[in-house]
Amino acid sequence: EASQSLRGKHVLISAGPTQEALDPVRYITNHSSGKQGYAIARAALACGADVTLVTGPTKLADIQGVTMIKVTSACDMFEAMKSQYDWADYVIMAAAVSDYRPEVVFDQKMKNKDENITFRFVKNPDILEYLGAHKTHQIICGFAMETENLDQNARHKLETKNCDMLIANNLFTKGAGFNTETNVVTLLTRKENIHLPKLTKEELGYKILEVLQNLEKEQKHV
Ligand code: C5P
Repeated sequence: EASQSLRGKHVLISAGPTQEALDPVRYITNHSSGKQGYAIARAALACGADVTLVTGPTKLADIQGVTMIKVTSACDMFEAMKSQYDWADYVIMAAAVSDYRPEVVFDQKMKNKDENITFRFVKNPDILEYLGAHKTHQIICGFAMETENLDQNARHKLETKNCDMLIANNLFTKGAGFNTETNVVTLLTRKENIHLPKLTKEELGYKILEVLQNLEKEQKHV
C-alpha cells in the first residue's frame, strides 16, 4: 500500500473529540476515540505525505513522523486548523467537534448547593464550513455521523459545507462508529455515492486518500 503516491503533498487531518469546559474540573465531550482520524494520518504518512494531525484529547499514542498539534476545545481546534490551512493540499475533518460550548466558564469549581442548575450553551464555529467557504486549492473531506436519513443528510452537508467528499456513517450499523476497529461508510462525492463494505479504519484511510487523489486529478482536467 505504501505507494508514495502522496509524496510532496500536505495532508491536514483533524481527529478525536473536543472538550468544552464548564469550570476548572468539568467539561462536556462526546464518545469519539480518534481512531479513524489517526488511521488516516498513518495511511497518508505511508503514502509519503507531509502529515499534520490536529487532535482533541484521545488515549492514542502520537504517530512518529506526523506533526501532532494537540488541542482541547472546538475554538482551539478552529485556530489550529486555520493556521495550517494555506499550505494544505488535502484536508480531512474527522474530528467530532462539539457543536456547542457553555456560554460561561466558571473560574472556580462550581458549588453543588442548588437542587437544579441551568446552563446556556452557545454555538461553536463550524470549522469545516469555514474551511469550505475559504477554499483556494484544497480538496476537502468531512465526516457525518447520522442516526437517520443518512444519505440525504450527508449530501446536504456536502453541499452546505462546500466539501469535495463527505463520509457518511450510521451510528447504529454493526461494526461502525465510535471506538470500533472497523467502519461501514458511504463516500459521497459531487457526482456519486460509493457504498463500501466493512473495512478496518486503516483500510478505509487508504481508500479515502485514493478517492481524494482521483478527485484532484479530475478537477485539474476540467
Ligand atoms: O454537521 P455535522 O457536525 O454533522 O458535520 C460533521 C462534519 O463537520 C465533520 O467533518 C466535523 O468534523 C465537522 N464539524 C466542524 N465544526 C463543527 C461541527 C462539525 O468542523 N462545529
